[in-house]
Amino acid sequence: MSLADDNSSVAPSPYTTVAVVSTGAYAEHFIKAFLQYGVFTEVRAVTRSPSNTAADSAKRKRISELQALGADIHEYTENTAEAFQRAFQGIDIVVSAVSVSAVPTQMAMIDGAMAAGVKWFLPSEFGVSHYTSRYLPLKGPLDHMVDVQRYLREKAQSSGLAYTIVYTGLAMDYLNPQSIGLIVSKREAVLVGRGGAKVSFTTLKDTVRLLIEILKRPEEMQNRTIRFAGSTSNMRELVKIVTGNDRGENVRILSIDEAKKKLCELAQRKDAMAFFMYCRILIEEGLAQIDRNPDERLDNHLFPDIRPEHIFETLAQLIHDLETGADAGTGMIASATKPVSPAAE
Ligand SMILES: NC(=O)c1ccc[n+]([C@@H]2O[C@H](COP(=O)([O-])OP(=O)(O)OC[C@H]3O[C@@H](n4cnc5c(N)ncnc54)[C@H](OP(=O)(O)O)[C@@H]3O)[C@@H](O)[C@H]2O)c1
Repeated sequence: MSLADDNSSVAPSPYTTVAVVSTGAYAEHFIKAFLQYGVFTEVRAVTRSPSNTAADSAKRKRISELQALGADIHEYTENTAEAFQRAFQGIDIVVSAVSVSAVPTQMAMIDGAMAAGVKWFLPSEFGVSHYTSRYLPLKGPLDHMVDVQRYLREKAQSSGLAYTIVYTGLAMDYLNPQSIGLIVSKREAVLVGRGGAKVSFTTLKDTVRLLIEILKRPEEMQNRTIRFAGSTSNMRELVKIVTGNDRGENVRILSIDEAKKKLCELAQRKDAMAFFMYCRILIEEGLAQIDRNPDERLDNHLFPDIRPEHIFETLAQLIHDLETGADAGTGMIASATKPVSPAAE
């Protein structure tokens, strides 16, 4: 399959080269899919140079694996426009998949992309679309995504660099369910608030499919926001699947005030779980529903070939895998049983 192969009503894409920034979890899946489906003549992974320490051994292994699969590897050491300009030479499309903490580095990435003549930039999103909580009087880590989008819209567009912002909600085949209060292995749950707010879900595997579909159709997909949700549900429904009930002794409720207090404690201890507590408060506020506002519509109809997995199926698969010890190649057991600080509960 090539970019131009299927869907004859769609004009063939003029873009043949792509760079993915980072070799992290999302990036690795994107790069492998681009290589597997042969959608590009060149797939480049742009990654910070790994050190020779044991801490970077998994990353070195990952890079070697991607290289063996056919990815071109470009290492960089500084988050500067000059470094990214060098990294993006000859590249048509840049997909950034850096971690939330690295989102501000995308300003230099955008400058570097413009200088290198890149045509299309997709910032690291692939998650929720509302970042500012009225429950939390602080600028959270996700807020920087707005700054990047503004920069991209204002500066890059006027210089001929197109953009696409992709929202997909939460990916429960990737996130540890415990990070949102679902302790699957014990059939227990800890809800923040009432758990009635709607939440958008799309698995990582459907996000990969979606991204490929988007990249095939630049004319239609550029300079817009795409909202795609595999399903929309609420935390109470998920709790019911995991515990068999949405109340009772297996379900603990944390009030918003208790959750805020917990967030402060975790943040003070610099515990990484603070981020998940922050996310759980956002979820309870309804901010994880990507089509929350009246002017926000899901774009699923633009992708009729993608039949996304429902969150209930994802959770049922996870429970089944845990019960049978089978992993079905999803890595979900590893994710669901990976220890998460009890402080997060
Ligand atoms: N929908 C969901 O539920 C969901 C869940 C998780 C993530 N996501 C989205 O997916 C994207 C990637 O997340 P992820 O979980 O894959 O991230 P990740 O694995 O935590 O990290 C991705 C990569 O970011 C790079 N990075 C980290 N710190 C950096 C820094 N200071 N400067 C430059 N690069 C840095 C590293 O790449 P190198 O070391 O290779 O340079 C790292 O491997 C994010 O946009 C996030 O919103 C969505």
